Amino acid sequence: MYAVIFGKNPRLSEGEFHAFTRRFNLKVSVIEGSRDWLIFDSSSGIWRYFHWLGGSLKLVRIVGEGEEAVRDLEYSRLFTVSLYGRNGWKLWRKFGSEIKRHFKEEGPSKFFKPAKTYAMPAELILKGFPDVKDFVFLFREDGSFLVGETIKVTNPFELKKLDVERPVQKPILSIPPRLARIMVNLTEIRNGSFLDPFCGIGTVVQEFVLQGLKASGSDREEDQIRAAKKNLAWLRKEFKLKNSAHLEACDARKLKRCFRQRFDAIVTEPYLGKPLKRHPSRGEAIKLINDLDRFYYPVFESFADVLRRNGKVVFVFPAYKLSGGGIYRKERKWLGKLGFEVLGRYTDYEERHKLVRDIHVLRYRG
Ligand SMILES: C[S@@+](CC[C@H](N)C(=O)[O-])C[C@H]1O[C@@H](n2cnc3c(N)ncnc32)[C@H](O)[C@@H]1O
Repeated sequence: MYAVIFGKNPRLSEGEFHAFTRRFNLKVSVIEGSRDWLIFDSSSGIWRYFHWLGGSLKLVRIVGEGEEAVRDLEYSRLFTVSLYGRNGWKLWRKFGSEIKRHFKEEGPSKFFKPAKTYAMPAELILKGFPDVKDFVFLFREDGSFLVGETIKVTNPFELKKLDVERPVQKPILSIPPRLARIMVNLTEIRNGSFLDPFCGIGTVVQEFVLQGLKASGSDREEDQIRAAKKNLAWLRKEFKLKNSAHLEACDARKLKRCFRQRFDAIVTEPYLGKPLKRHPSRGEAIKLINDLDRFYYPVFESFADVLRRNGKVVFVFPAYKLSGGGIYRKERKWLGKLGFEVLGRYTDYEERHKLVRDIHVLRYRG
């Protein structure tokens, strides 16, 4: 039995996790879930693929249930404790001391304090994970709990490197590498040809190439293509990759002119409008979205020209946090008319942002 611990957008992480198990053909049966974690059984080697998840933090092997399960934990000289579903340092310390007492027969041990009552992957890696262990307590609402040991963490340092070490960066406008990884998983396509038609400096294309996919990227601006090429050359050298990507300048409304082939998937964050100075009113948000939709309509017509039947699109539409509170998200009937079926929708945003990413997963019926 395993648990996966979700990141800061748990609904998106859960959607990604299910898409990922289908994408890598991993047999998983869900046992129970809460907002921040999911318990499941799996006969497939999920740990071998775990690092390809963008939105999850940890893979935990469940050892047992309740206080007795502490006796079944494996000795470690240095460890920490992570609580989910409960916080409070008193409880955290109680479990740490209990584990230490139990380990006494095997040798001395120490536990260290993470920044919160659970350890984040970066803290664990810096302390020496997996030699240094992370014992996890997952609380249900009724107060009962499961006990486990973290066996894999996603690596925030690799994702950060992909962002801040590449030669050309565009901090505000480019998509976080973690989200690019999530969006690729949401396609559920394991192998195939992938296109980002608004590639900018190439964050999504970088992810295609890292995953060994047949990768193409285009952007209307020549200078963006030059930047994406520079970043790609850096990526190939840094990660010792043999494969590459086809990159060319192209208007996303005229893809047929640039690409003869048909793609299995399009993954993209398009132009999302000018940066906003303040939160829009509902009326302003409706106007902003309708103006942008007039641009997205021919873009989707053009997607239909270069997608295979049943091809997937993972597309970031804009939504807005309103000045009066709440979020404005639009329903787009025109997608259906163009042959695109909406399979899933997830919102993603940072507290300080006015724009909300309204991520759509679509299938092109052809
Ligand atoms: C939000 S940025 C994409 C950022 C990208 N995901 C990254 O990480 O660099 C949008 C990009 O769309 C491009 N763009 C705007 N209108 C376009 C069009 N009609 N066709 C193709 N690209 C366009 C812009 O040049 C810009 O690079």
